[in-house]
Parts: sequence; structure tokens; C-alpha cells
Amino acid sequence: MTVGSPTLRAVFLGPPGAGKGTQAQRLAKEHRVLHVSTGDMLRQEVAGGSDLGRRAKGFMDAGQLVPDEVITAMLLARIQAPDASRAWILDGFPRTLPQAHSLDRSLQAEGIELSHAVDFEVPSDVLVQRLSGRRTCARCGSIWNVHSKPPRQPGKCDACGGELTQRADDRPDAVSKRLQVYAAQTAPVLDHYRAKEILVEIDADRPPEVVYENLMEVIAKPAG
Ligand code: AP5
Repeated sequence: MTVGSPTLRAVFLGPPGAGKGTQAQRLAKEHRVLHVSTGDMLRQEVAGGSDLGRRAKGFMDAGQLVPDEVITAMLLARIQAPDASRAWILDGFPRTLPQAHSLDRSLQAEGIELSHAVDFEVPSDVLVQRLSGRRTCARCGSIWNVHSKPPRQPGKCDACGGELTQRADDRPDAVSKRLQVYAAQTAPVLDHYRAKEILVEIDADRPPEVVYENLMEVIAKPAG
């Protein structure tokens, strides 16, 4: 399987700060793969002040999951859009078993099969350190880190010159809640994909370029 072929239909799993967004952005840029991030979609809704955004904001700021019915409708509509006929990766979805089952049903109805469920594994103490240092470009969405990937000029994006901001849910109390929520609600999703024999695990506690090389290897061949 070539990496950009339309048969690449992958979900990226793993705790907050594991590097899903960092890897997905690079893959999308280098291989014309559609990157669908439910977190980014929700943050756009919040910024735009939509009803959905107003409903989601309280959950997100508190480090909790947005209700399944809200997020699932938004995600399924996105992957039915015309530009989703090419290869895609879902970053941050599914996060609960009901979301995974909804995705299964929707793909089955369209005759599409998920090719890979990639689990990015990182120890909790490393996640907390990464999230405390994360900065995101308000203009282009590029991800930086004051500890491990600082921009040349503090507070400015190297890619577009936009202002770098800290996410509201990267405060220590929200981070700790997100890690608890991950263990309770998202970890069972791994077993769902393990049973389908499409789960691949990547040690993501290594430099981003090494993780990316490993990711390229695993998605270039069928999972299982
Ligand atoms: P979302 O935006 O999806 O957040 P998340 O899953 O918590 O993941 P993060 O974006 O925090 O981390 P990441 O793994 O992408 O790491 P990144 O690459 O940025 O969701 C936010 C909220 O939206 C949720 O809490 C929930 O409320 C709601 N939501 C979203 N989807 C939902 C769903 N399906 N159901 C219900 N609610 C939903 O990297 C982190 C930092 O580490 C960066 O600074 C980066 O530079 C650095 N870094 C990355 N890789 C490395 C590396 N290898 N070495 C060193 N540093 C690294």
C-alpha cells in the first residue's frame, strides 16, 4: 500500500500530548492525506461562536469529552464530504466505544474498511511535560513546544509568523482530568481495534522524526 493511496483509512489513538496532531500534520503535508482532527474542528466551532461550539466549550475547558451524539454527527458528516474520497486519518476520533461502533456502522454502509488504528504510546509524566510546553499557531495551526520544539522567535510561528497561543485545556487541572478520561473512556477503544486485528502500537516517546519514520513503516503495509 502506498502511503497516500485512498485505501489508507486510519484512526490515530493515544493519550493527550502523545503527538497525534504533530504526526498527522506532517503526514497530511507530505502525502496529500486528509487530516481530520475532531479537536481542531471543535476549536473552530468555539472560535466561530456556533451553537455547537457553545455547547462544546464547557466540556473541553474542563477536560471532559463532548457528548457522543454531538461529535459523531459532526465527524460522520466530515468524512462524507467530497474531499474525503482520498486517503484520510482521523485524529482524536473515536474516543469512546459508542463512537467506534457508530464509525463502524457508517463505514460499513459505504463499503469502506478502516486500514489501521495507530496507538501512539507515551508515559504519563512525559505527556504532562509536553502539554505544559505546547503552543499552537492561531493562524495556521502549526504545533510548537517551548521545551522540545521552540520557534526561532518566542511567541511567533516559524511557518507563517502568526501568534502562538496556549490551549485552555493545557492547564494542569484540565490535563489531569483529560488523562483520567482517556484511561476510563478511550483506552477500551484500543481493545475494539485489537479484536479487529488492525491495531498497531508505536513507541511515541522518541524524537518526532523517529516516530514519523516508524509511522511510515507501519502504514505502508496492511495492519495485523
Ligand atoms: P484534541 O484536540 O483531540 O486533544 P487530545 O486528544 O487531548 O490531544 P492533543 O491535541 O492534546 O495531543 P496530541 O496527541 O495531538 O499531541 P500534539 O501533537 O499536539 O481534543 C481536545 C478536546 O476536544 C477533548 O478534550 C474533548 O473535550 C474534545 N474532543 C475532541 N475529540 C473528541 C471526541 N472524539 N469525543 C469527545 N470529545 C472530543 O503534541 C503535544 C506537544 O508535544 C506539542 O507541543 C508537540 O510539539 C510535542 N511533541 C509531539 N511529539 C513529540 C515528540 N515525539 N517528542 C517531544 N515532543 C513532542
